[in-house]
Amino acid sequence: MSNLIPMLFTQADAVAKPAPMILSEQEKASWFARIQDELVQHHAIIIAHYYTSPLIQELAQATGGFIGDSLEMARWGKQHDATTLIVAGVRFMGESAKILSPEKRVLMPTLEANCSMDIGCPIEEFDAFCDAHPDRVVVVYANTSAAVKARADWMVTSSIAVPIIEHLDGLGKKILFAPDRHLGRYIQGKTGADMLLWQSSCIVHDAFKANTLRQLKAQYPDAAVLVHPEAHHDVIALADSVGSTTQLIKACTQLPNQQFIVATERNIFYKMQQAAPNKQLIQAPADEANATCRSCIHCPWMAMNSLEALERALLTGSNEIQVDPQIAKRALIPLNRMMEFAKTLNL
Ligand code: 13P
Ligand code: SF4
Repeated sequence: MSNLIPMLFTQADAVAKPAPMILSEQEKASWFARIQDELVQHHAIIIAHYYTSPLIQELAQATGGFIGDSLEMARWGKQHDATTLIVAGVRFMGESAKILSPEKRVLMPTLEANCSMDIGCPIEEFDAFCDAHPDRVVVVYANTSAAVKARADWMVTSSIAVPIIEHLDGLGKKILFAPDRHLGRYIQGKTGADMLLWQSSCIVHDAFKANTLRQLKAQYPDAAVLVHPEAHHDVIALADSVGSTTQLIKACTQLPNQQFIVATERNIFYKMQQAAPNKQLIQAPADEANATCRSCIHCPWMAMNSLEALERALLTGSNEIQVDPQIAKRALIPLNRMMEFAKTLNL
């Protein structure tokens, strides 16, 4: 029996890419100072993902906020005493923050910031898929809607997916994994677990191709290759290190190489270069001819988090994340399981 179901989502054609804001140092300082005051007034804090623009990451950093991967973002927002969290990232990140901190107001610069994996896993189809496989433990990636999480037994992020599946496999469990087919296949390869995979993927990581990466490796034979596990398995096979965004930044600081070819969203360079200032970072190429993203290696939804949109949300209270309380209560179960498991690993 095939463990594959038909691909449900391919393109993000309708996603508009906002023009990046070019500011002088003086203009930037004045934006940052104004937003800092507004954050204090609203008892708010910014939590940004590494894939947002360098300007947003710099703002988060300058105002005492946080930059991290999806697991860290959720955790950091919960422990912080701010009453409003401004989540600069994509919608599932805002929803996870709200599920974990229902008493807090969670705002996003835009509610349009989606994710191709989330879009590719609608709850109605996912429900039917789970119903058809009642013998399997349902494990979902963070990049899903609150409703899909509410249907799951466990949630994982890329930083903790392998040990959680190893744990379930050790208990003799068969797994239904959604939505990322590449991450699913990677975990399956690492753990040997019995996994039935949903067939969605990331339009950004899908753009990396093994043949172009191989050519670049030949040009930089001393470079280590860093790959996010949302990439195709042929690309992962060329990696020296595979991991979540935080794990890739760590690998860049820990591996002895002086050059790194990086196969993930290009805005990660902002923090990676800060963490390893003396190392040379080289962007892995997208296969331009077949690339499925409009702005290659650039998440069009992450790019929607502009400075203006962030300030507008803060000032007007618009774009508040709302999660149906019943769904949130159910979705908290897989999320908390992951958080508890992370504690046992000191992650
Ligand atoms: P991380 O958890 O590694 O930050 O990944 C989130 C994501 O959306 C990657 O595309
Ligand atoms: Fe989703 Fe890919 Fe964008 Fe991450 S980079 S938010 S997985 S579309």
